[in-house]
Amino acid sequence: MSKAPDISKIDFGTRVSKLHHQFSRDIIGLPIVDPLLTWQVESSHPDAKQIAYQISSIDSAGNIKTSEIVESENSIEIKASGHISKAREATHFRVRIATQYGWTEHSPVVLFETGLQSGADFLGESIGDDSKHSDPSPILRKEFEVDKSIKRARLYATSEGIHSLFINAVSVTDEVFTPGWNAFDNRHTYHTYDVTKLLNDGANCLSAELGDGWARGKFGFTNVYDNYSTKIHLLAQLEIEYSDGSSTKVITDQTWKVSTGEIRFADIYDGCTIDQNKEQKGWQSIGFDDSNWATPTVHALDKKTIFPRTSTRILKVAEFPSRIVDSTNRTLLNFSQNISGWVRLTVDGKKGDEVIIRHAEILEPGPNLHTAALRTAKATDKYILASDGRHVLEPKFTFHGFQFAEVKSNAKFISAVGVAVSSANEKRGSFTSSDARLNRLHKNVVWSIADNMVSVPTDCPQRDERLGWTGDAQVISNTANTLYKLDSFWRSWLWDLWLDQQRFGEVGAVVPDILSRQQNVVNDWKINNRAGWADAATIVPLSVYESYGSLETLRQQVPSIRKYIQSLSDNRKGEKFLPEEFQFGDWCDPDAPVDQPWLSKVKAQFVANAFFAHSVALAAKIESLVGDTEHQKKFEELAKTLRSDIWNHFGQEAKESTAGCSIVLEFNIVPDKERKEVAQLLSDMVLKDEGKISTGFLGTPLILHALSKNGHFTAAYTMLMRRKIRSWLYQVDQEATTIWERWDAIREDGSIHKGEMTMSDAENNDGNTESPSMISFNHYAYGAVIDWVYRNVAGISSTLEGPGYRRFTFAPRPGVGFDYASASIDTPLGKASIAWEIVSDGSLSALVDVPFGAVATVNFPVTGKSLLRVNGRQITNGSQLTHGRHHITLTSPEVVQFTAAI
Ligand code: BGC
Repeated sequence: MSKAPDISKIDFGTRVSKLHHQFSRDIIGLPIVDPLLTWQVESSHPDAKQIAYQISSIDSAGNIKTSEIVESENSIEIKASGHISKAREATHFRVRIATQYGWTEHSPVVLFETGLQSGADFLGESIGDDSKHSDPSPILRKEFEVDKSIKRARLYATSEGIHSLFINAVSVTDEVFTPGWNAFDNRHTYHTYDVTKLLNDGANCLSAELGDGWARGKFGFTNVYDNYSTKIHLLAQLEIEYSDGSSTKVITDQTWKVSTGEIRFADIYDGCTIDQNKEQKGWQSIGFDDSNWATPTVHALDKKTIFPRTSTRILKVAEFPSRIVDSTNRTLLNFSQNISGWVRLTVDGKKGDEVIIRHAEILEPGPNLHTAALRTAKATDKYILASDGRHVLEPKFTFHGFQFAEVKSNAKFISAVGVAVSSANEKRGSFTSSDARLNRLHKNVVWSIADNMVSVPTDCPQRDERLGWTGDAQVISNTANTLYKLDSFWRSWLWDLWLDQQRFGEVGAVVPDILSRQQNVVNDWKINNRAGWADAATIVPLSVYESYGSLETLRQQVPSIRKYIQSLSDNRKGEKFLPEEFQFGDWCDPDAPVDQPWLSKVKAQFVANAFFAHSVALAAKIESLVGDTEHQKKFEELAKTLRSDIWNHFGQEAKESTAGCSIVLEFNIVPDKERKEVAQLLSDMVLKDEGKISTGFLGTPLILHALSKNGHFTAAYTMLMRRKIRSWLYQVDQEATTIWERWDAIREDGSIHKGEMTMSDAENNDGNTESPSMISFNHYAYGAVIDWVYRNVAGISSTLEGPGYRRFTFAPRPGVGFDYASASIDTPLGKASIAWEIVSDGSLSALVDVPFGAVATVNFPVTGKSLLRVNGRQITNGSQLTHGRHHITLTSPEVVQFTAAI
């Protein structure tokens, strides 16, 4: 690499356009660690290359610190060492880079504001009341004086349960469900709010409402109550710095007052009851008479478990207007999109009128809400009006998974809006093509991911579950990372995975692992360290690494990964293989007995050992990336032995099913010399069945890759574009707006799958021995196909070799009937995109964008007659493109022929 040019030389054609750090954007109160900076560059020089960078920072006192010039091409996760050392310090970072043309200006700044030194900095006590789950929500208030001019004010807060905080009746944030859900046994996260502008000169009022959230009440399908606590309480600290250098703190203690208000009940599954008559008017403002309020109760919250939050914010991400479907005796509404959130309802009514709103994902004939899928979740919000006239009603501390809602009331319905919330609040990818159905499928996956990323990655947002099932999470991670910016979300969740793994010894089936806390779950099955689920421990970190270039995520997870591999290895008890025991297997294989979705065609013991080998191979890769060659070699050896043992023992059996073939191909278990034969077998099975899907949660994400990577695009497209039942597009034809849990959730005759499940009574701790059903219309797992669509239909692919899209590939494989397709991804380096079309002479014409600092390899579908050109210049496949927009043309492209079953 060339040397950095003289510092006085300016590159006028290049600028650093964006700079960010490793944590979620827009959050402050960060850990006291070195920032890892990532920046994007724009340059008008087609050949400009970063050859050096220099980071500088400005602290709150205006001190500038400039690091040494570092000669490097890298601009992802660059450690800014030696700048951050103090708690509560706001430091602005900027960077400039040198190209061979000279130095750029400084970038825009990014703020890195640290939080508290530790949880012990909370000087107060955690306060609440003595209420139970079924009681009204506690409300808390405290008045205080501000007597000098304020320089800055920060509110730090965490809670058992969830909280809303207000200063002088104004919410301190636009986030909801703060502080979210973590592995609460070991980790409560506190949020930091900049409240400087909310404070008045003179008297002020700090107030809070508390809800059960994930800590208390009913959570988990086993109907265990109060998972983490029987009480909810708030630990908060307002720190005000005055312009004269003095400061003061308002802490939670027994000088506060507690009461209850209009929220009479709030539960994530069951909904919220608001009685406006119980509202204490003006309670959040100064001057309110709280003399008859009680002194709060102090509850224990171990301050050693308190850490700064680092995940993405749960925000309102969209609103959907409603359409009235039916108005006989009730108002039945369609919001056109299945979302996680609630209804903002406007009614005209009289004092005392009751308004009841229920939610569901689909309608039954009638039309009526289909509520069977909710299982025990009531998903019902209730309001009692306190006055005549117009009211805008919104629930608190609950969310529902719904597209439809039914309003029953004497009050007149005026309007309703569906409010969608999500932790996936920053879109990253976009896709469109000439096939409207495929576009809708893409949109459905976009929504299933948004709906299921609410604090943790969940299985589904509607029924009495909404757990961070690790299997579902690993299956969707690549696609989720393409569609949304989720690196800090995953990193935070993976940390919880590790915390609970240490607590319970094994990787949970859900994270946070409330099922291990509940112990008596799911019959006597052992559900931790299960194949395809616990492998989230290796698969998700590597997906984050590939998509964002985050080596830090791998470093963070190495101890978890090693422990996981070790405990699987130990479970072999000296034998070659993991024993035959319960596995979720290729969960929901459509050919499995309908009530026993774990009985997939592909056998449990094979799946267990195959995923073990896969995780060991991934662990070897991860060790090589973090530079531990000893562990790398050990894991490489183990993976090699396992793969060949598995092939010898289970190979024949694997060849008998599509999931089996996909697994051995994708996990490199099949020896090279037999790869072709197995791929052919797989393709034959798929074509013979006209692309009918025969795989479940574990096989489905692999199968199209297993086909196309081995040259079988015809079979892959036949499956992708099939519209008959058991296909992705069948759901689209059925007007699905998110991805279903079962391929036949709505059958061809219009009947709704009952989702019957065989479980013993142990399943239901509440004595309910009814067979629990399992049917959801919003499970993202099968949406994993979108990863294949970006990589092959549009043709844009990240690579493990060039993580964070430093090196990626343009490899469209147009299928017959497609006139155009395009996709773009906001990579850490900037926008990478491709938009191709088949032009009138049958050639393929593509416009591609490569961000600065990235190298894209061209891999177009050439035939013997093809001419491949970039910007008019003839090239061959394998040519590399650097930053800028390029026009690629290909005459006589290979177009994948297939026939979709309709
Ligand atoms: C969830 C699934 C999950 C499975 C594992 C179900 O109830 O909804 O998505 O992975 O359980 O058994």
